[in-house]
Amino acid sequence: MNERPPEAEIGVIGGSGLYALLDGATEHQVSTPYGEPSDPITVADVGGRRVAFLPRHGRDHRFPPHKIPYRANLWALRSLGVRQIIAPCAVGGLRPELGPGTFVVPDQLIDRTSGREQTFYDSGAVHVSFADPYCPDGRRAVLAAGETVSPVDGGTMIVVEGPRFSTRAESRWFTSIGGAIVNMTGHPEAVLARELALCYTAIALVTDLDAGVEGDHGVTQEEVFKVFADNTAKLRDVLLDAVGRLPAERTCSCRTALDGIKLPFDLP
Ligand code: ADE
Repeated sequence: MNERPPEAEIGVIGGSGLYALLDGATEHQVSTPYGEPSDPITVADVGGRRVAFLPRHGRDHRFPPHKIPYRANLWALRSLGVRQIIAPCAVGGLRPELGPGTFVVPDQLIDRTSGREQTFYDSGAVHVSFADPYCPDGRRAVLAAGETVSPVDGGTMIVVEGPRFSTRAESRWFTSIGGAIVNMTGHPEAVLARELALCYTAIALVTDLDAGVEGDHGVTQEEVFKVFADNTAKLRDVLLDAVGRLPAERTCSCRTALDGIKLPFDLP
């Protein structure tokens, strides 16, 4: 058993354009049974809470969405002691009112990815509940922290395989089935967190209107990166504030997600 005190309690997985978060951080190179995480993990104190930061795509953005080592990332964070995760990401808006610059704290997701490793449990009978993919306490904390940017409370995130953007027909269909926003990284990150009994909260920054909503040139990578860069300072403020609002003691059902289930191996 690992007797060392945890390095960190809260994790932030940064998305496109958020490659650093913490000043004065110490760097941890973590190996996992699933390979190396996207990057070394940096840990620092934020208002008395120990926070670990991991850039999802690597700090040089070498991992496209379908190649991100999602399992290694979640395992590595848990092995440092992290139990609550805030996950910012860039998304496209699937409704005209969700234009660039809007912040959304989603409450549901629909998986449209294919072929990604999406479980730690390739043996045994481990079936976690995923009806509500995001932590209710984490969502409350992020919504309160985001007051200055008036985040939209709730919405379904459609997660596509990428790396291409969607066709107009796909995009219109996503809207028609109830999608509010679309991105490429929200799955399997959320379910892998649940499979390790971690709290997981997404905060989405809309960088574009998806192809079914805008009637012009379609989505471009350039606009996605530019809008994200323009909003990084705001996002950083919301994240650092949200950290202090997360509960010190977890009482949500994420914490007990694995209770009563016989695991095929010990968790870190
Ligand atoms: N990430 C940012 N904008 C996106 C879009 N329109 N579709 C998929 N992923 C995105």
